[in-house]
Amino acid sequence: MKICIIGTGYVGLVSGACFSDLGNDVICVDKEKDKIFDLKNGIIPIYEPGLEELVIKNYKTKKLNFTNDLRSAVRKSDIIFICVGTPIKKNCNAADLTQVYDVSKEIRKNIRSFKIIVTKSTVPVTTGDEIEKIISRKISKKKFSIVSNPEFLREGEAIRDFIYPDRIVIGTSDKKSNKILKSLYSPLISKGAKYFNTTRRAAELIKYSSNAFLATKITFINEIANLCEKINVNVEDVSIGMGLDNRIGSRFLRTGPGYGGSCFPKDTRAIVETGKKFNIDLSIIKNVIKSNQNRSKILLSRVSKILNNKIKNKKICFLGVTFKANTDDMRESSSLKMIPYLSKKGAKITYYDPTGEKKEFKKIKNVKFCNSIKSACSLCDLIIIHTEWNDFKSLNFKNLSRKKNFTLYDMRNIYLPDKMKKDKIIYFGIGR
Ligand code: UGA
Repeated sequence: MKICIIGTGYVGLVSGACFSDLGNDVICVDKEKDKIFDLKNGIIPIYEPGLEELVIKNYKTKKLNFTNDLRSAVRKSDIIFICVGTPIKKNCNAADLTQVYDVSKEIRKNIRSFKIIVTKSTVPVTTGDEIEKIISRKISKKKFSIVSNPEFLREGEAIRDFIYPDRIVIGTSDKKSNKILKSLYSPLISKGAKYFNTTRRAAELIKYSSNAFLATKITFINEIANLCEKINVNVEDVSIGMGLDNRIGSRFLRTGPGYGGSCFPKDTRAIVETGKKFNIDLSIIKNVIKSNQNRSKILLSRVSKILNNKIKNKKICFLGVTFKANTDDMRESSSLKMIPYLSKKGAKITYYDPTGEKKEFKKIKNVKFCNSIKSACSLCDLIIIHTEWNDFKSLNFKNLSRKKNFTLYDMRNIYLPDKMKKDKIIYFGIGR
């Protein structure tokens, strides 16, 4: 099939590369000239395992192409995916749909034959109705169909999530579009993905509800972890025991420094705004947002306690600073709150991250990037495991630290407390 992808961010680039790998002819469009130039030369703007290889392979065979020319890309394609960003507005928490609507107007100018226009960007419920209105102002409704096809891929696991999704959600009441999209996704359906056709508005809401629910699950276990710390119960046992109930499920019950990234924080706020627009109080999600915002404070007060309330001049090392492993993404990472706070209190901070130095910390006093785990840890009073990279999962801390009485605060519960005790390491995890 002939596909045009507009926007080469996370969702667009991964979808484009994967669709081309499934045998489709894909043109990815972006207005940024440098980005398209780089992509043509195999330079990928984001860190995502496996993506570079997939892009280079399919670009070589011409199944995947890149351009700044939206006009010709739209004209040549049968299916157009809108994959542009929907950030939070500056003055409120609603999603900013400027890019989605601008792109819709550009598409409108170039409809010559029937087009299926699909939103893969995360857009609030009724956005599809709005796009339909914009296009139908100048084009007959017989010549296009607006479909919602939300994407559920995770950073760091994006290729796998695209090729082996749990479900494919197609929001359209148009039978023809549904048939064509079902056939586009047939290679994934034959591998076990469930295909669900519903209304466009329901599909839009499924995306936000899924992210809000997962954020709730994480926040729930984080609060249970707080309780566990008071009553000497291991939260890992609670997660396992709860997860064994199929109605609950075991995933997304890992406690940690709170959810971050480009999606959960933004989407939880945006769905609350959508609720407000329709006079509905989404009180559970509101409280999830509040609880998650408070998470860093709780963990920082633990840090302070571990250091006997003497943070000044203490040497603290952070292992990993991104919002989770296998990504270079710093957006809404809890380290962005923790590191500046500790620096303000007079701590001397070193950090190591497998994706390198971060511009966010360059101007913060007493914060130094080290290019190895060993150099970051060597003279520290406290080592904080902030991100669950595999690189941090089997470290010999006794060899890493030149200090005798260092403490390890494992914010991802990677290590076993008993083993640490045996190795005579002063160890704290979360919720145990
Ligand atoms: C999330 C969703 O998982 C995807 O399904 C969705 O497509 C994506 O948002 C999006 O809307 O584009 P992502 O933000 O890449 O994906 O990352 P997750 O793996 O979901 O992690 C989000 C945050 O939750 C991270 O800070 C992670 O450390 C935290 N987390 C996750 C936990 O603290 N505990 C868990 O058990 C799971």
